[in-house]
Amino acid sequence: MAQTKNSPIELNIESSSPEKFKTGVLAVGAFSDGTLLRSSQAIDEASKGKLSEVIKRGDLEEKPGSTLLLHDLPGVEAERVLLVSLGTRDKFDEKVFRDALIAITKALASSPARDAAVTLSVDVQGRALAWRAQTASRILADGAYRFDAPGKAAKKERGVRKITLLVSDKVTDELKNAVRQGVAVAEGIALAKDLGNLPGNVCNPAYLADTARALGKEFNLDVEILEREDMKKLGMGAALSVGQASAQPCKFIVMQYHGGGKSKPIVLIGKGVTFDTGGISLKPGANMDEMKFDMCGAGSVFGAMKTVARLKLPITVVALIPAVENMPGGNATRPGDVVTSMSGQTIEILNTDAEGRLALADALTYAERFNPDYVIDVATLTGACVIALGNLTSGLFANDDELAGQLLESGNDTGDRAWRLPMFDEYQDLLKSNFADMSNLGGRPAGSITAACFLKRFANGFKWAHFDIAGTNAVSGDAKGATGRPVPLLADFLISRAEGKARGTAGQERVPVSTAA
Ligand code: BES
Ligand code: MN
Ligand code: ZN
Repeated sequence: MAQTKNSPIELNIESSSPEKFKTGVLAVGAFSDGTLLRSSQAIDEASKGKLSEVIKRGDLEEKPGSTLLLHDLPGVEAERVLLVSLGTRDKFDEKVFRDALIAITKALASSPARDAAVTLSVDVQGRALAWRAQTASRILADGAYRFDAPGKAAKKERGVRKITLLVSDKVTDELKNAVRQGVAVAEGIALAKDLGNLPGNVCNPAYLADTARALGKEFNLDVEILEREDMKKLGMGAALSVGQASAQPCKFIVMQYHGGGKSKPIVLIGKGVTFDTGGISLKPGANMDEMKFDMCGAGSVFGAMKTVARLKLPITVVALIPAVENMPGGNATRPGDVVTSMSGQTIEILNTDAEGRLALADALTYAERFNPDYVIDVATLTGACVIALGNLTSGLFANDDELAGQLLESGNDTGDRAWRLPMFDEYQDLLKSNFADMSNLGGRPAGSITAACFLKRFANGFKWAHFDIAGTNAVSGDAKGATGRPVPLLADFLISRAEGKARGTAGQERVPVSTAA
């Protein structure tokens, strides 16, 4: 099963005066106007004003996230002090808080030190200390992620492997639990990234099935792999049509986590197209390698399941992954072919590159048997979504306002944001076919919306939301790789459900409760 070979980072929280804490690197924040936080004040006093001297000299840039490394400050136990700019006080907000943490992870990743401490004394408006602890743990643990590519010589281990969060308050069970949650979310993100980053010749449908089996073994999940023949018997003609020309047989993966007794499940569906060539409607060659990321929806569902299971959340979650490879070939689906979905509705496939919706359609129908509370699908579905929202924001569609609101709030609370787009019935006309109940193609205008409207025809009898993550699942260029999104959003949503909190207005404090068994 996919796993980072380097040991995961160790994260703890302690109550201690920062100047007295023995560590390789001590990270403290500082506003650019020179006003010191409680932690930096303590260090300033211990070092007889050295810190404020450096800031006054202007060595620390104003730009939030700029860092400055100071060695052997007198009166301070830490070998190094990493000053992180928080920008100006009036512009400080959650985004700057997260950016400062990301800057810290970058500095720690290349440090010769093996351990570090990060102070948490800056106030974030409207957020409890537990939120800061959870956010910091997640970002710091995620920042230590490295992908060990199979076939590439392992990089020399450098960078901090143990981080202690320092607070002045007493360390309550609540705070410890917040850290545990942050680390568990980062673990889910790491699994999603690993699966995304693996090449298509490794991470194929069978590999995803093996990953499900391994996860099931580790966390005692019920795992069932439906083979091509099983899918045929169920009538999954839409999903099967996508993978029919691939040498890698289609799989339909079912994972069940039963932490919530007899409570109705939340079903998560992840698009698991392990490589998307476009099929007979072949994609252009440039950047086609990035279509190995077309299973990132599935990756994020795996990641969220891992987080839920690690935290032993008291909820029931079912994960469904249609795992298929979209290939051209002598027996490939032709444009114009008509297939019958598991729901009985027929589909004229006008473009074999609009395959994600075909795979998801049968998964949505399969979800009905669980009598779910909610069904949430995650898919790298349309290039149009990248045009609409770019790489920052995931597209969200839902047939239920309350569910949409809760998901958007989880996006805001984690910075893993989404934006809702409409599914007005009038758009359905764009999916008309002369030869079947619908076509799989809505044309170029509103491409993400017509894709969602297509899915809506299969989401019957439950509250349903759909994430289009085509822009947010991975980054291109020098830092090419999977992002693990939207695991932070999904995990926050599931943790909130488990805590049974009525979600109020954005920014309202939520204090994690202990979910330890
Ligand atoms: N996997 C792609 C969508 C995609 C595009 C993801 C770019 C990430 C980056 C999807 O299967 C696809 O090919 N969609 C088509 C649909 C069209 C044929 C209606 C698209 O967006 O071009
Ligand atoms: Mn496609
Ligand atoms: Zn695709």
